[in-house]
Amino acid sequence: MTEPSTTNPTALAVEMRRVTKQFPGVLANDCINLQVAYGEIHAIIGENGAGKSTLMSVLSGLLKADEGEVLLKGHPVRGRPHLVSRRGLGMVYQHFMLVPNFTVAENVILGNEPGDRVHLDLRAAEEAVRRLGQDYGLNLDPAARIEDLSVGEQQRVEILKVLYRGSDVIVLDEPTQVLTLQEKNELFETLRCLVRDGRTIIFITHHLEEVMALSDRVTVLRRGRVVASLAIQDTDIATLAQLMVGREIGPGEKRTGDVTGDVVLEVSDLTAVSERGLQALDGVSFGVRGGEILGLAGVEGNGQRELVETLTGLRIPSGGEIRIGDQSTHGWSPRQFLEAGVAVIPENRRVRGVVEPFTIAENLVLGRHWKRPFSKGWVLDLGAMEAEAKSLISDFGIVPPDPEILVRTLSGGNQQRVVVARELAKKPVVLIAAHPTRGLDIAGRQFAHSCLLRERSLGAAILLVSSDLEEILDLGDRIAVIFEGRITGILPREEASEGKLGLLMVGARR
Ligand SMILES: Nc1ncnc2c1ncn2[C@@H]1O[C@H](COP(=O)(O)OP(=O)(O)OP(=O)(O)O)[C@@H](O)[C@H]1O
Ligand SMILES: [Mg+2]
Repeated sequence: MTEPSTTNPTALAVEMRRVTKQFPGVLANDCINLQVAYGEIHAIIGENGAGKSTLMSVLSGLLKADEGEVLLKGHPVRGRPHLVSRRGLGMVYQHFMLVPNFTVAENVILGNEPGDRVHLDLRAAEEAVRRLGQDYGLNLDPAARIEDLSVGEQQRVEILKVLYRGSDVIVLDEPTQVLTLQEKNELFETLRCLVRDGRTIIFITHHLEEVMALSDRVTVLRRGRVVASLAIQDTDIATLAQLMVGREIGPGEKRTGDVTGDVVLEVSDLTAVSERGLQALDGVSFGVRGGEILGLAGVEGNGQRELVETLTGLRIPSGGEIRIGDQSTHGWSPRQFLEAGVAVIPENRRVRGVVEPFTIAENLVLGRHWKRPFSKGWVLDLGAMEAEAKSLISDFGIVPPDPEILVRTLSGGNQQRVVVARELAKKPVVLIAAHPTRGLDIAGRQFAHSCLLRERSLGAAILLVSSDLEEILDLGDRIAVIFEGRITGILPREEASEGKLGLLMVGARR
């Protein structure tokens, strides 16, 4: 499928020369030079909005650079993603592009773009999936349906897709965000195998320890420019952090002080059924007190999404009860949850978090727009909206700082900032925070953590759903673990460790 290319051994796998890409009001890529050698694992890092995803879209042909040159294995790249892909470039985007009710093998075949001769030979695909799986530790049942796979397994399918098409330069945009520690280690092992076999990897991450553990070289972007490109043995985490943000970052804030509030959110014997009729929640019980953060750890796909939905009125429980303060929420609509003071940072910001075709200002007051000061009778008070938006934009460091910009054009991390800012501005009584720092850079993560701790000190009852154990251990007063829709243990912070939580996460009862 990949065109035979006479690769010149002295050429680079990827070379970008003076690439410039301007969006209205934003110089996303400013005269960028990037050199990636064959067989290298090359990390690209930078703060939210630094221009990483834009640069990769230019490489893949999805975006056309205003100026500059892009060479893939010595050949000039000009637009047309399918031509670039035929030259051997494979992209694994952060949001997966799989068809949920198709099998692994079917999705792998579908990965071939229109215009290719489509071989609908399922047997051959299944065989290839098996073989690639064995060669690179990407073990998957070719006949399994995507909807039955964990997020980590779905990511393996995305990688299989690019391997099946013969890609030998593979780009992964924030691939580790949704993975647990173990899945992350497996992914790294796979990537190492791939380069050993002569492939080249470019990956984007906000986690510097991943850069140090995995890559050979790292290129640092700041505000659209390359500020450094270094061999990994010549640098360290502190230097990279400094290069990225241009100043030193202190350690993050941690939880202090005891919890004394009353139980505000109480869940008893809650059950819920998934879209596919499976038992998603099976007798879940816990309480969260005012001024407390209850961390909920677990491998993604063990009922967390359904739990968050029932706690916000988006899914009707099949049994059990949710109480907020002294009220039963039986039969409540999402609006009633909202009015009772329940705020939610949802796990999937692209589906439930932001309204992409709306402006930043509109997104920031969503859910409060019918109330004073934003609404006067039937009309919106645009002045009040803009003032509120400007203050949240500055508090949360949303870039670009313009209330009238459409959220669709924001970088991933800046969209996440919009959601976090909006929900915290509601001054919630109960805050359900699902993966609140996913996609945020180091400073953004620290800022979000200090916001959660501030809400805690103001007396909010907070449920922090996260697969990031470090985050849960830093912030949680107590830590619950969910596995297959059941709570397998609730530990006070003092008794919790990554090891203990890890065991509970795979189903070992306390
Ligand atoms: N289609 C677009 N229209 C207008 N501006 C855009 C568009 N796409 C990106 N931008 C802007 O370009 C800049 C770089 O965005 P990009 O998505 O490349 O950042 P990033 O480094 O990937 O950030 P993150 O870590 O948050 O994903 C941002 O300021 C963003 O707002
Ligand atoms: Mg990005």
